[in-house]
Amino acid sequence: MTEARRLAEYHSPEGAQEYLEEYQKLHRKFSDRRERRLLEGFFAQMGTLQSALDLPCGWGRYLPLLASRSERVVQSDYSGSMLAMGRERFAKLPVWGRIRASGTQLPIADGGVELAFSIRLNHHLVTPEHRLQHLREMSRISSRYLIFTYFDAASLKNRLRQRQVRRGRKKPKNTLARHQVRETLEQAGFRILADPMLFRIGSGHRVVFAQRGVK
Ligand SMILES: C[S@@+](CC[C@H](N)C(=O)[O-])C[C@H]1O[C@@H](n2cnc3c(N)ncnc32)[C@H](O)[C@@H]1O
Repeated sequence: MTEARRLAEYHSPEGAQEYLEEYQKLHRKFSDRRERRLLEGFFAQMGTLQSALDLPCGWGRYLPLLASRSERVVQSDYSGSMLAMGRERFAKLPVWGRIRASGTQLPIADGGVELAFSIRLNHHLVTPEHRLQHLREMSRISSRYLIFTYFDAASLKNRLRQRQVRRGRKKPKNTLARHQVRETLEQAGFRILADPMLFRIGSGHRVVFAQRGVK
């Protein structure tokens, strides 16, 4: 699927509703729990934050967590329907701003937020250049911390997938190599503090926690 088509789907009310329903499924609840446990560990190391950008925020799955750890939360997503759904679902939680924007070009100043938080976007970006550009953009706007996920090219899940791709049975995943991620962050002045797999066997996602200016 092209990136434009995927974006149009997310932007539509039907696409946003579909994503919300996906998260009611059992396997999603399981991965949600594991993901939250990893994130809680990262948040414990950061203490209370001044500001955080949640991009892509989707329907606001992480708004309660972010609002409990950061004085200000900005939500952003390409999809206007996702932003609207999040506003309805969490009407009582304070949000500093909502911005409809692309993760590869954010209308935010350099170092404009203390934490840039991007869960489950990278593997939706169709070209490798966009996947790296997204990391550069998140690094640019973060004054201190980064948390994001990506699909690791060397993961067992991806290696099994590549066999299917070679047999013409499946399409390739949108991956990055671990060294590419590390080098991109280092060039932007960040060091990776942790990058565990979401699940060693059943998932190819890594959850990265990085800090600016640490030797
Ligand atoms: C899998 S959802 C993840 C949402 C949220 N982070 C979560 O974990 O629940 C992917 C989100 O990325 C958004 N999205 C897709 N491509 C995007 C892009 N290029 N820039 C910004 N948001 C994008 C979609 O609208 C959707 O809300």
